[in-house]
Amino acid sequence: MLRTACRAGWCWQIVQRTYVPRQYVARREVQQSSTDRRLLLSTPIFYVNAGPHLGHVYSALLADAMHRHRRLVLGAEDPGARLCTGTDEHGLKIQQAAAAAGKDPLVFCSEVSEQFKDVFNHILISYTDYIRTTEERHQTAVEHFWAVLCRKGFIYKGVYEGWYSTPDESFLTDSQVMDISGKRGNTVKVSTESGHQVHWTKEENYMFKLSEFRLPLLKWLENNPCAIYPERFYDVVLQMLQEDLPDLSVSRERNRLTWGIPVPGDVTQTIYVWLDALVNYLTVVGYPKAHESWWPGAHHVVGKDILKFHAVYWPAFLLAAGLEPPSRIYVHSHWTVHGQKMSKSLGNVIDPMDCCNRFTVDGFRYFLLRQGVPDRDCDYYHEKVMKVVNAELADALGGLLNRCTAHAINATQNYPFFSSACFPRTPGLFEKEALSRVTAEDYKLLEFVECLPSEVNDHYGNFQIYKAIEAINVRVKQTNAFFQRHVPWKLDRDNTADKLWLDTILYVTLECLRVYGILLQPVVPTIADKLLSRLAVAPHERTLKGFQFLARYHGKDCSFEGRKLGPDTGILFHRLERQNLHTKQNMSL
Ligand code: MSP
Repeated sequence: MLRTACRAGWCWQIVQRTYVPRQYVARREVQQSSTDRRLLLSTPIFYVNAGPHLGHVYSALLADAMHRHRRLVLGAEDPGARLCTGTDEHGLKIQQAAAAAGKDPLVFCSEVSEQFKDVFNHILISYTDYIRTTEERHQTAVEHFWAVLCRKGFIYKGVYEGWYSTPDESFLTDSQVMDISGKRGNTVKVSTESGHQVHWTKEENYMFKLSEFRLPLLKWLENNPCAIYPERFYDVVLQMLQEDLPDLSVSRERNRLTWGIPVPGDVTQTIYVWLDALVNYLTVVGYPKAHESWWPGAHHVVGKDILKFHAVYWPAFLLAAGLEPPSRIYVHSHWTVHGQKMSKSLGNVIDPMDCCNRFTVDGFRYFLLRQGVPDRDCDYYHEKVMKVVNAELADALGGLLNRCTAHAINATQNYPFFSSACFPRTPGLFEKEALSRVTAEDYKLLEFVECLPSEVNDHYGNFQIYKAIEAINVRVKQTNAFFQRHVPWKLDRDNTADKLWLDTILYVTLECLRVYGILLQPVVPTIADKLLSRLAVAPHERTLKGFQFLARYHGKDCSFEGRKLGPDTGILFHRLERQNLHTKQNMSL
C-alpha cells in the first residue's frame, strides 16, 4: 500500500512539474544548452538487414539539421558539435538476412552499410563519425561496458522465459502480445506495438537487474523535465515506468545467435544486440579511454518505435555503469505512405535515392523537414512533395530572389545603399520631405525578421524543426508582400527621391533574403549556398556568430552596401513538373 502511495507520489510530483511550467523550463534549458560547448548528436544506427528507406533518412535528416543548426550558432570552425551515425550489424535478424542472401555475414553487412553511407553522403548528412558495430573499437567498448556492469553487480545468470520478436530484437511480456489470425487461418502471436510475430524462448541467459532502476529512472525524469521531446513521449515513458520493470535478458545462447559479440569469459553466450548497439554512442566518443569531454551531453534522435530502448534500457545501463543518462532524447513519429504503414511486404517502401532524383536532394530534404511533425505520424505521397516545394522553394523564395536581383530592377548588380531618410528608425521623421514612404507593416516586417534567428533557435531547441521552417516561410511571404506593396518596378531611377527609395527597398529585401539564406542552410544546404553566393555573402559570413541584420538601419556601417552581387543569375530552384511524379527522373542538383 505504502509502495503504491509512493508511486502515486512520484507521478503526482512529475505531472505537476511537467504540465504547468514546462514551457518556461524548456526556454531556460535551450539557453543553457546553447552556451554548453560540447554536443554529441546521434542518429540511431541502422539495421543492415535491408537497404535504406525514407524512414531511415528522416531520422538521419532530423539529426543532421540539428547538427547543422548548432554549427550555425557556434560558428563553422567551432569543434563543439559532432554528429554520429552508422549501422547496427549484429543480432539474429542480420544473421538470418545474411543466411537468406547466401552471404558471409560480414560481407553482407559491409555491402548494406555502404549503401547507407552512400545515401547519407548523397543526401548531405553532415556526420562526423560513421560507426559500424562490427568494428574492433566497438567490440572493445562493449566488452569494457559489460565488465563494468558485472563488476558493479548488475548482471547475473538466470533462466529467461518469454516472448521474443526477432524483427524488433525485443523481449515482450504477456501484456505486450496478442493473437491474430494468420494467412492460413491459424492463430499467430504478434507484438501489440509493432505487429511483428513473436516466438516463445526459454534459455539460460545473463540477466541485467533492470528492476532496480525503476525509481532511479523516475527520479532522472523528474529532475530533467526536458530529457525527452516532444512532451507527449516524456509522458509515454512515465507511463512505462508506472509498472514494475522485469529484469532484462542481455545475452543469447551462442548456438542460436552466433553473429554478435561473445560474452567476455563465456563463449557459450552472445551479448544482446540492443546492449551492443546502444554502446555505440559511447564508442564514438572514445569510451572507455577518452569519453569524458563528450559525455554526458549526448542528444539522441530516435523514432518512436525505439523509445523504450533509449529512454528506459539505455539510461538504466548508463546509471548502472556509473555514467549519466543522455541529456536529451528527441523522438519522432513515422511516415506512412498513402495512409499505410511502410513495409516490404506491402511493396510501398519509399526509396530515398529515387525521391532525390525526382525532387532534387534539397527538395526532398525540405519536404521531409517541413512536413514531418515529430508528435504524430505523417503521410507521404509524391504529389504533396511537388506542391510544397514548388510553392515555397520555387515560387516564394526563388521568386523573391529573382525579383530583387533582376537586371531590369537592379541594373548595376550591386547590393544597394540604404537611405535612412527613406526608412527612418523613427516612423514619420522625414514625412515632410516626402522621402519616407514606409508603412506600419514595413516596420513590423523588420521587427519580425530581426527576431527570426532567435525564434528559429527556440524551435530547434524544442525539436520543432518544421516550426522553424514555417516561421521562415511566413517571413518570406511577408517580404514578397513588402516588395509587391511598393511596386519598385514603377519607380523612376532618374528621379532622386525614387532612386533612394528603390535602393532602400532592394537593400531591405536583400537583407531579409540574407537572413533566410543563413537560416535555411541546415535544411537546404545547396539552395542556401546558391542564394548566399548570389548575395555575395562570403563563407565566413554565413553563421549567426556576430550576425548583424540591417546594420545601416541601426546606424552602423554595413559591409554589404555597394558589394557586387554574385555572378550566378540562374534560377534558385526549378519548378517541378508533373512528369517528376510518374517517371524515374535523373536530375542533378
Ligand atoms: N538498429 C536499431 C536502432 C539502434 S540505435 C542504438 C533500429 N534500426 S532501424 O533501422 O530499424 O531503424 C532506424 C530508425 O529508422 C528508427 O529511428 C526508426 O524509427 C526509423 N524509421 C523506420 N521506419 C520509419 C518510418 N516509416 N518513418 C520514420 N522513421 C522510421 O531500430
